[in-house]
Amino acid sequence: MVKAVVLGAAGGIGQPLSLLLKLNEVVTELALYDIVNSPGVAADLSHINTPAKVTGYLPPPKDGSKNAPNDGLKNALTNAHLVVIPAGVPRKPGMTRDDLFKINAGIVRDLATGIAQYSPDAYVLVISNPVNSTVPIIAEVLKKHGVFNPKRVFGVTTLDIVRASTFTSSVSGADPRKVRVPVVGGHSGVTIIPLLSQISPPHSYTQDEIELLTQRIQFGGDEVVKAKDGAGSATLSMAQAGARFASSILNATVKGESGIIEPSYVCLDADSVGGKQVKNAVNELDYFSSNIELGKNGVEKIHPLGNISEYEKNLLEAAIPELKANISKGISFVADGS
Ligand code: NAI
Repeated sequence: MVKAVVLGAAGGIGQPLSLLLKLNEVVTELALYDIVNSPGVAADLSHINTPAKVTGYLPPPKDGSKNAPNDGLKNALTNAHLVVIPAGVPRKPGMTRDDLFKINAGIVRDLATGIAQYSPDAYVLVISNPVNSTVPIIAEVLKKHGVFNPKRVFGVTTLDIVRASTFTSSVSGADPRKVRVPVVGGHSGVTIIPLLSQISPPHSYTQDEIELLTQRIQFGGDEVVKAKDGAGSATLSMAQAGARFASSILNATVKGESGIIEPSYVCLDADSVGGKQVKNAVNELDYFSSNIELGKNGVEKIHPLGNISEYEKNLLEAAIPELKANISKGISFVADGS
């Protein structure tokens, strides 16, 4: 039995992501939780002829009516192997991801409490922004309950990697499906650090191209927010990216495939898997996105940054103070609610 859970399943990301998970044949049970509409989304997806059994859950109604369903979050999370979280509000034009903190921090903290209680061993994939802070929030809540495992909590930065493949190949002419660019750091503006010097297959860009591509990868999300003109941020490309990362986790942890490497924003405290080495290289930050090798227990190895160019070193220097502030903000929110 492999149960996948989507928290925030009725939203712009949640619906297409749930669809893609329903199509993933490793998943045998798919539980959809949201504060609205999740039973409808579940009924719809349940007609697709793939193995996963789909169920939808809501929180109990506020009026405490007799026909209140059982605690939806508990039922959704119980026996979960993998929990993906796209719950929360998206950006509108002019907003940064950090502007979402006020609303999303509380949502993520409450969902993490449910995970700590009902599915403490699950792999947790955090999509809700600001990822730089929501991942520390989840970790702190799990720590409070004594169930934090740094090898099992991931900030999903895959959309940055997907965008990097698309944007770089539009300049080089390469097949975007075959291009891999490690994108490290965090998941907002200048904390997104594409390592174009490590692009595979190798390609030599001019300095002008490097600067334009870096800027576009860092602020690619703004293109979508602007084009949607108030109707939200990336949903469809995010769903594909989230499903790709979820599939990598399932392939490693369920099918036992080895050698899967995906960048992801993780806690660097797991020294046994190389966290300390990366931590030393990034001024002692507690969280950072680096190339992560996945294994049957989640994070198998946090790869070092490798050789990076002078330009990339400067990007890293600019990212560190912002990441530090974002991480502290998440940690303080759980410690004292501020
Ligand atoms: P949306 O507003 O369309 O959907 C969010 C869903 O969360 C809604 O269905 C809402 O009812 C639900 N929700 C709210 N509070 C909840 C709670 N307490 N429990 C369960 N569900 C709850 O937003 P969208 O576009 O799907 O974006 C979701 C999040 O993903 C946003 O924070 C956005 O910034 C983030 N995002 C992250 C990206 C990444 O690369 N990591 C990329 C794009 C968006």
